Amino acid sequence: MTTEPTRPPMTRFDFDLYSDTKTRPSPGMLRAVLEAEVGDEQHGEDPTVDRLTARVAAMLGKEAAVFVPSGTMANEISMLVQCRPGDEILAHRDSHLLNFEAGGAAALAGAMVRPLDGPRGMFDADTVRAALRRVARVLPHSRVVVFEQTTNLGGGAVWPMDQMTEIATLARDAGLAVHIDGARLMNACVASGVGPAVYGALADTVYMDFTKGLGAPFGAVLAGDRDTINAAWRWKQRLGGSMRQAGLMAAACLYALDHNIDRLAIDHANAQTLASGLAALPGVAVRTPETNMVFADLTDSGMTAVEFDRALWSVGARVSIQGPTTIRAVTHLDIDRSGIDLVVEAAGRILAGRGPRA
Ligand SMILES: Cc1ncc(COP(=O)(O)O)c(C=O)c1O
Repeated sequence: MTTEPTRPPMTRFDFDLYSDTKTRPSPGMLRAVLEAEVGDEQHGEDPTVDRLTARVAAMLGKEAAVFVPSGTMANEISMLVQCRPGDEILAHRDSHLLNFEAGGAAALAGAMVRPLDGPRGMFDADTVRAALRRVARVLPHSRVVVFEQTTNLGGGAVWPMDQMTEIATLARDAGLAVHIDGARLMNACVASGVGPAVYGALADTVYMDFTKGLGAPFGAVLAGDRDTINAAWRWKQRLGGSMRQAGLMAAACLYALDHNIDRLAIDHANAQTLASGLAALPGVAVRTPETNMVFADLTDSGMTAVEFDRALWSVGARVSIQGPTTIRAVTHLDIDRSGIDLVVEAAGRILAGRGPRA
């Protein structure tokens, strides 16, 4: 039996750059929760859930949508709907679906994941073409291509529209479905100026997560055509994801749609400020952020990622560890510009006088 690593001694960091999942619901969001009109969601009787699913379906240009507790469940249900056991999913080697869902695609849908390579969490059409299986008795069926928009381990990169379109067309022509893991889809929309329905048009299934930059404590909405969403509902029931008075949750998500989309531009600007602040420090190499994620390599600073993170704890800040000397810092609505300045200043003190290890 393996054990989980030890948790930090504090549970609350004032400047928690570990992930955009660390936000707490705002007072306005909590008021919306308290005022929500609710019913039995499993029976289609919750008006707030219905409002949310109708609104997200329209935003994504789809016929129908289903509310699920998490992005992980949206990915799993999508794979369950698209795949039969033995089928093959084409996804990036660094994707959430392949790495962080406890093997759900294999365990639940019985599908294999074919890892595709490419810079910043993205692959190109030639890579997909080369990975497509021909039809033969001994081969698995290539069934679905997965885009992660934005890419997580790829550093919050935004898939360019022409690259996505080329791959989606190739996939369709070869009889594959397309799924968009939209954990941070709205970050992509704000950064690129491309509307969610434009991305949605490329996909058979696409979901939007509310627990990342949108700042809600739970919830994702998976959209597709009506038959697909009817099938998704059955899987949601089988997985125990059907809920009762889920309007409480949906109200937080509706609040997020009303208040927390445009402001993602602030997170993106804060990520730029953080990136340039860190890049100015000795021995720190920073990848230019496209959205709200900053990846920095500390190899030449003389510190490991763990040492750097632990040192930040003393000022109530933390980052996530991505490798021995690589950290990821994610900006979000609970960290404003002064928080970013404080972290940069603390990082400067921590790294001062350090240098490459002998
Ligand atoms: C790209 C991506 N997909 C899916 C998920 C899963 O979302 P959730 O935490 O809502 O299950 C995450 C979470 O970090 C993610 O980054």
